[in-house]
Amino acid sequence: MKTQVNGEKLEINIDRLMGRLQTLAGIGGIAGGGVCRLALSNEDRLGRDRVSGWMRELGLQVSIDRIGNVLGLRSGTGAGQVVLTGSHIDTVATGGRYDGTLGVLAGLEVIATLNDAGIRTRKPLGVGFFTNEEGARFAPDMMGSGVHQGALDLETMLEVEGIDGRKVGDTLREIGYAGSAPVGTFRADSYIELHVEQGPVLEQAGVIIGAVEGVQGISWTEYRLSGTSNHAGTTPMALRQDAGYVAAAVGVEARKLALEMGGSQVATVGVLELKPNLVNVVANEALLTVDLRNTDEEKLQAAEARIKEAIDRIAAQEGVGVSSRRLARFEPVAFDPQVISLVESTARRLGYPVRRLPSGAGHDAQMFAPNCPTGMIFVPSQGGISHNIAEFTRVEDIKAGADVLLQTLVNRAQ
Ligand code: GLV
Ligand code: MN
Ligand code: MN
Repeated sequence: MKTQVNGEKLEINIDRLMGRLQTLAGIGGIAGGGVCRLALSNEDRLGRDRVSGWMRELGLQVSIDRIGNVLGLRSGTGAGQVVLTGSHIDTVATGGRYDGTLGVLAGLEVIATLNDAGIRTRKPLGVGFFTNEEGARFAPDMMGSGVHQGALDLETMLEVEGIDGRKVGDTLREIGYAGSAPVGTFRADSYIELHVEQGPVLEQAGVIIGAVEGVQGISWTEYRLSGTSNHAGTTPMALRQDAGYVAAAVGVEARKLALEMGGSQVATVGVLELKPNLVNVVANEALLTVDLRNTDEEKLQAAEARIKEAIDRIAAQEGVGVSSRRLARFEPVAFDPQVISLVESTARRLGYPVRRLPSGAGHDAQMFAPNCPTGMIFVPSQGGISHNIAEFTRVEDIKAGADVLLQTLVNRAQ
């Protein structure tokens, strides 16, 4: 094995990477080319088995921790902390094939490329996939990486109930991924994650590589509204306690607040369930979620306060009861200036147009950022579409992103 590396000539094998992406997309594949691999489902188990099998084939030392994160480590010629990459392989129920999986499989492709070239870096390298990044089945999102880095409490997270009433701890055991490796103590040399942008910025700018500056703050709240069901034809408007009306008004208020605040503020009501959900019955119950995001913590707090005030006011006017539960709350995160510059200069050196941008989506990288130099590499998403089966990134952009990841990791590990 060589111990010195001038990484310049190294390039990833795009056919091998696309082959693995294709294989993984087939696990939990749904009509139209999308993927449904909800966290800790049977499909997630099959995906985990496949990816950890690849890790072992590549000679990585595989460990599973108590929240089910899987880490594959490759020793270096020297001691020192691990230069880590990775992402997640769980998806939303209507997911694409690149969100998360690209970062994990590009990490494996980096290892395969170094193996082929007989190169061993000075510092150890690692590739991880973290449990329940999406938060679509179990809230909060970034659960595995949050526990891994000590930001979320293990025991509390194991007790979290999903949208189907099942608990994280029980489903982890069922799929065979309740590991024994400790959590909360692992400190990496650095963490660098490749991900699809999931938004329109890079494509619209004609840029291939994004050097991600940070991740905006995320606030998820679930509201339960309780009114009175009654006859849709006979109940005078003034006598209604219509939970459906209040829920709809909150959706309108969320849109209004985002438009009025402008900047990076976004607001989404992604869940809206009415009971009894019948054409001629006033709804007595509504369950809805509000997702608020902003790059500025103070503005995010202002948005939260405004939504709360609106719900309380409209519900009181209608005589509807409100209870709420916080599902996720993460402050905005800034990535390490040196890692951002390294991603930028590496992309330039490889001849790719690059620009800096913040991330609108949450990522495992944000859980590492407080504890080690952290950064991310984005590649364009066609039409800015993600969390949709139509999610697509061009092969040449995937190659560019994986090559930038390779060179960035090698740089950090030498
Ligand atoms: C995670 O994918 C999120 O940003 O919602
Ligand atoms: Mn993702
Ligand atoms: Mn996602």
